[in-house]
Amino acid sequence: MVSQQERVVVLRELLPVGMELLEEQFEVETLGLDASREQMLAAASGSDAMVTDLTFAVDGELLDAAGPQLRVVANFGVGYDNVDLGACAERGVIVTNTPDALTNATAELAVALAMAAARDLPAAEKDLREGRWQGWDPKRWRGFELSGATIGVVGAGRIGGRFMELVAGFGGERLYTSRQPKPDLESRLGAERVEIDELLTRSDLVSLHLPGSPETTHLIDERAIGLMKPTAVLVNTGRGTLVDSAALVRALEEDRIGAAGLDVFEGEPAIHPGLLTAPRVALAPHIGSATYRSRDEMSRIVAANVIAVLRGEEPPNPVG
Ligand code: GLV
Repeated sequence: MVSQQERVVVLRELLPVGMELLEEQFEVETLGLDASREQMLAAASGSDAMVTDLTFAVDGELLDAAGPQLRVVANFGVGYDNVDLGACAERGVIVTNTPDALTNATAELAVALAMAAARDLPAAEKDLREGRWQGWDPKRWRGFELSGATIGVVGAGRIGGRFMELVAGFGGERLYTSRQPKPDLESRLGAERVEIDELLTRSDLVSLHLPGSPETTHLIDERAIGLMKPTAVLVNTGRGTLVDSAALVRALEEDRIGAAGLDVFEGEPAIHPGLLTAPRVALAPHIGSATYRSRDEMSRIVAANVIAVLRGEEPPNPVG
């Protein structure tokens, strides 16, 4: 039996589809998007479950503020680099995430950013909106075509694999990196597994689909950019830490890279000021999973994980 006393604290926000499921069974407190760290620490106290998200650290301090009765941290998102898994494991706290629900949404945004960056759409639109369009011009606003492009997917997991499927219609070669071979991508899409340096050297479009971690931090740095074609388009919908923003800004300004489409940033919501002024950049405010369908489903999954753990069952999406 689920006790009425069990307390779930949503440290920022969960959508109604998830809230309704939780409120049917538990006492639920929601802090909202503007919650300060101090408010989070205070509200966590005495909770049996915490709903967290990628915007703040779930660390020993927060877990200790919650107390020893805490049983689950349900992170609203597929990535969980904000969660100290070791600190959770030491305290016997289960961590869950929301995979699958956002695979299509995030892969589609990567395609959108690839195309927007390749054709410099943001700059072209800005020119139009600000009255600089003087009529059809054979020279201005030229960009890169993706048809026939060699496409490199760094991290061919669920989202990277879906991205590759979506761009297969461009018809060029398909390369990927992955810890494990992906026979399905190889047989169905003719993809070739290569090492990262070879992928960077050969690709016209490089799309990053890795989680944030100490091992992946600044994977794309000055050296990596140096391997890439000067016309290559770089897309990042994984984590901002994957790319050394300062190195990318320099490469864009010096025409050493073709274009960049970015949804995630180091230290977001702060953004390297050079990215706002560098040429050939398409930017989005971390909206990879932001479709109606995906965010509703993610919210439902968060609730399903909390409910399972508090019922003493195996949650559908444990991590770590
Ligand atoms: C978003 O970035 C997520 O990890 O779900």
